[in-house]
This record gives sequence, structure tokens and C-alpha cells, in this order.
Amino acid sequence: MKVLLAVTGGIACYKSPEIVRRLVDNGVEVRVIMTHSACEFIKPLVFQAVSGFPVHTELLDEQAEAGMGHIELARWADVLLIAPATANTLAKMVAGTADDLLSTVCLATTATQIVAPAMNSMMWYHAATQANIETLQSRNVTVLGPGEGSQACGETGVGRMLEPADIVRALVDLKDQSGVDKTLAGKQVLITAGPTREDVDPVRFISNHSSGKMGFALARAASIAGARVTLVAGPVSLDTPAGVSRVDVTSAESMHKAVMQVVSEADVFIAVAAVADYRVAEQSESKIKKTSADMVLRLERNPDILADVSALPNRPVCIGFAAETDNLEGYARDKLTRKNLDMIIANRVGVAGNGFNSDKNAVEVFWPDGHQSFTARSKQSLALELIGLISTRCLSK
Ligand code: C5P
Repeated sequence: MKVLLAVTGGIACYKSPEIVRRLVDNGVEVRVIMTHSACEFIKPLVFQAVSGFPVHTELLDEQAEAGMGHIELARWADVLLIAPATANTLAKMVAGTADDLLSTVCLATTATQIVAPAMNSMMWYHAATQANIETLQSRNVTVLGPGEGSQACGETGVGRMLEPADIVRALVDLKDQSGVDKTLAGKQVLITAGPTREDVDPVRFISNHSSGKMGFALARAASIAGARVTLVAGPVSLDTPAGVSRVDVTSAESMHKAVMQVVSEADVFIAVAAVADYRVAEQSESKIKKTSADMVLRLERNPDILADVSALPNRPVCIGFAAETDNLEGYARDKLTRKNLDMIIANRVGVAGNGFNSDKNAVEVFWPDGHQSFTARSKQSLALELIGLISTRCLSK
């Protein structure tokens, strides 16, 4: 994806270099244009340094036109992202003015246009700005934000530019959506993710290192593939992917209950959660005091959510995860048979940069009569590929 980032003259432009950096980190090609008033706030050199390319500021500049002129820039971009977009820029877009580089590119491009408005809240709520936003939306311009909070002018209200991370997430979603077939359209997918937490007493618990990233990435990928997705999440600090309905739980028993309540509607169940195998048999209602030199906690088995779902009479397609340190295929295939699964996704834990808490993962996938390896890649792109594999292997029979 090629993104032309246009920076206009609002104080929020101090955050725009961060947008460039995050886009580049996500493998997006970025070029930057700035309006003259943006250059009053921040030097083009900053954007040149983070994007690695010269910044365009002039409509009629012999040198620039000899390189990538305004029409070439307009043709080059898949996405024109204006962040921040001032009230003035929005008005110029509506009027179709073409008196500087940005406004001319806006008219000349067929790229997807996205604006992230940033202005004082009175300016945002002014009838003229609201009418301009409506007009732009009717012309298929995507409007991201603005957010609410304290503003540079000292007021509090709606008008803040969305945070760079939120803007970049929206763009990366757009990129992934364009490359994915709607293989799960009309399907209901239920996913468990994250660790569970088993209370010892009111202040202590037993848990594990699962971050929930793989399960959340799969929920996002399934949603992008057109499914209605319910995500039953243990305690994690992750944002809910767009379009996904989320149920937060804590213990294995509460996760089991939440899954059983909705599983009858599911076509596919993907158990990604690292569910604690045991819980504390006698939870103390008050804080346990350190009165003796040692202490013994008796643990009892938790229900196996995945095995219980796969034993249901009208069960959904069941996909499990396995985390193993050795004999990956042997243990994974054993789990596939023992839990009566359609597919198992196994990752080798204990390898640096893989699995738990990492942003990357390498997995081996097994199904009764087949196998596929996925070398290390981001959990987000791995999730899109796994959803593709699940659709072809398990749903198109
Ligand atoms: O038996 P093991 O814990 O290795 O199996 C892992 C798979 O089973 C994972 O898909 C995990 O989400 C699921 N599981 C479960 N409930 C449990 C234990 C594991 O759903 N109590």
C-alpha cells in the first residue's frame, strides 16, 4: 500500500511524524506533502528523516516537478491521508479549490481519501464544518475522529486528532481488508483468548504468560473475512478489534460458562486461550497470612473447554492450539485425536521471539490428513493466513 500523507497547519501536526514511523513499520510506503502553514509548525526535514524521501511543499517548483510532480504524486498514491486535517483544508476540499499542492492533489487523485480532523471544538461543531464533513462523507471520504479531550487551546471537548496508533490501525485494517476474500461471510466464529486467572485469595492469583495477541489477531482476521465474531477474553490489555463482540472473563470456569452460553450459534470454535489446567481447591475469602515457613495449596482440575465443545452433539468446527517444547508433531497429533478436533495449530514455545507475548509466531498446523508449516511472521498476518486455511480445509467440504 502506498500512502501519501498530507500534513496541514494544526498544532496536532507535531504527532504526524509518529504516523509516518508506524506506517513504515507496518511495511507501508509513505511520501509526505505539507501545506505552507504546516511548515510554520514543523520543518519538512523531520518528515524527510522519518519517511526517507524528500517532502513536497510546492505546487509550482521546477525541481519538485522534475522529480515527482503533483500529478505523479496523485497517481502514485493508493491512499491520501490528511492528518491533521484543519477546518480550512476540509472547506477547500468541499469547494474544490486548487490553489496549492495539497488541494490540487485532492482533485487530481483517484486514491482512497481519509481525513483525520483536528481543530478547536467550537470550530468542529460550527455548522459550516459539520456540513463540510457530511459533504465529504457523501463523496466517500473516510473521516477518522476527531477524538475528545484536552485541546492545545486550553479547552476540553471534541476536536483532537486521533492518536497516531489509532489512525495507523485503521489504515492497516483497510490494507488487509482489500487483500482478503470474504470466505467467512455469514459464519459465526467463537474464539477464546488470553490467560485465565485462578484466585488464591482476594489479593493473589495463579496465571500464565499468555498475552492474548494471537487470539485477538484471529478475531480480527475472522471479522475481516466476513464472520460475526464473539471473543471470550481472559484478563489482557488489548483493544477489541473492530466489529468483534467481546466478553471479558477471569477464571477458567467463567470462560467455560461464557463459551457454553453462546456456542450453539457458532459454526467455528477456535480455542486459543491458555486456560489454567488447575484452580485452587479452597479459595480463601480473606488474605492468607504468612504464619508458617511453607504452605501447601491443593489444586483441582478445571474443565477442558475445547474438549467439552467438541463433545457436543451439534458441535461447530473445532480448532485447538498446542504449545510444546519438544516432539511437536507427536503431541499435537495426539491432541487432535484425543480432543476430536478438525485442526490443531502448534507452536514451539521456549524459542526466542516465538509464541507467548511475542508479536511474531511460527506454527505447524495439522489436520487429520494434512499438514502445513508457517515460518515466523507477524501474528496479524499469520492470523489472516490461518483463517484462509481454516476456511478451505474445514468449511468448504
Ligand atoms: O490440553 P492442552 O491444554 O494442551 O490443550 C490446548 C488446547 O485446548 C488449546 O486450544 C486450549 O485453548 C484448549 N483448552 C481449553 N480448556 C482447557 C485447557 C485447554 O479449551 N481447560
